[in-house]
Amino acid sequence: MKIRAAVLNASPVAAPYAQTKPLAIEELELAPPGHGEVLVRIRAAGLCHSDLSVIDGNRPRPVPMVLGHEAAGEVVEPGPGVDNLEKGDRVIMVFVPSCGHCAPCSEGRPALCEPGNAANGRGELIGGGKRLSANGKPVNHHIGVSAFAEHAVISRRSLVKVEAEIPHEIAALFGCAVLTGVGAVVNTAKVRAGESVAVVGLGGVGLSALLGAAAAGASRIVAVDLAEDKLRIARELGATDTFNAADPDVIDRIKAATRGGVDHGLEMAGSVKALDLAYQITRRGGTTTTAGLAAPSHSLSLAPVKLVAEERTLKGSYVGSCIPLRDIPRFIELYQRGKLPVDKLLTSTSGLDGINEGFDALAEGRTIRHVIVM
Ligand SMILES: NC(=O)c1ccc[n+]([C@@H]2O[C@H](COP(=O)([O-])OP(=O)(O)OC[C@H]3O[C@@H](n4cnc5c(N)ncnc54)[C@H](O)[C@@H]3O)[C@@H](O)[C@H]2O)c1
Ligand SMILES: [Zn+2]
Ligand SMILES: [Zn+2]
Repeated sequence: MKIRAAVLNASPVAAPYAQTKPLAIEELELAPPGHGEVLVRIRAAGLCHSDLSVIDGNRPRPVPMVLGHEAAGEVVEPGPGVDNLEKGDRVIMVFVPSCGHCAPCSEGRPALCEPGNAANGRGELIGGGKRLSANGKPVNHHIGVSAFAEHAVISRRSLVKVEAEIPHEIAALFGCAVLTGVGAVVNTAKVRAGESVAVVGLGGVGLSALLGAAAAGASRIVAVDLAEDKLRIARELGATDTFNAADPDVIDRIKAATRGGVDHGLEMAGSVKALDLAYQITRRGGTTTTAGLAAPSHSLSLAPVKLVAEERTLKGSYVGSCIPLRDIPRFIELYQRGKLPVDKLLTSTSGLDGINEGFDALAEGRTIRHVIVM
């Protein structure tokens, strides 16, 4: 079938995107769903920094590619072999498909699925190959989803069925920002009631972590960003203390305010500078968790003696160490009960035509989540 999609034809592309237009709205051919795949009508797709990192070259991926991985939609046609989804079912996309039987999958860590991540790296679906093409030439899928399009063919292994009738533009946020941010707090860091938390980097992912920390019963929630606007929003969402990362004395000031540092330092900015800050403000014996995706060539320097003699833990968190089939329904229930006000993260919406302007807003920190609605 013919679909309209936002295609990235080259990378890196420099801002301002309203002028350079890295994403071109084009007509593509979408093949029918293969075995274990589903044709989905995309209803909402959020703009995440991980999409922006493909555009600006920080996270190189093969082009041409249809970006977009934080999304919600409706099943149009379950392909052969899909017997547990029906036309009209509401689904949320997960950006790592899980095969269900590789070593990480079998130990309950689907974010690390080996064939899933390998397919993502090749720009293919986990079933192999590409279902998107332009004038007979294949177009790459973005981490199994490619949601900046009217329709998508997606593996069943990338989909979570949602029973709750929540608006699509809210549902989409659960697929990446909420899964990553709340999951990092409750699954990776395992924050317990009464512990103190600091979040460095307050975009959709970091503010989700902040909401997760509040829901988990953190005693202190320190929020850190370079933008004063983000600090103001963080206070509205439950931060107990806010600090600007540009302040040259920021580390000393946070340590003084928290009697030596926080139990959990979380890095959600995607930069080594932010990770270093999160590490420095974690107390002796505490845990630093990083979910931001810094450029692959960047590295962190740390003194191992400090790790040893101060019994520190440094952890990475991918897809919030979540089991999406378990955690998406849980997090939605928390949202419905008012414990996780995810709707506060939705700052603006547009059609596909507003996508380049939306990425300018994300790059300049003017939006938390801009969502494309279709
Ligand atoms: N681990 C995962 O599974 C996963 C999933 C989604 C996104 N990510 C990554 O998480 C990061 C955040 O994504 P997002 O969509 O929330 O991004 P965003 O652009 O909306 O937010 C990033 C925030 O970090 C702030 N920031 C930048 N440098 C900083 C510094 N040195 N100190 C303090 N704050 C700083 C920015 O001002 C901004 O508010 C990105 O790197 C993204 O690629 C990871
Ligand atoms: Zn994302
Ligand atoms: Zn697997």
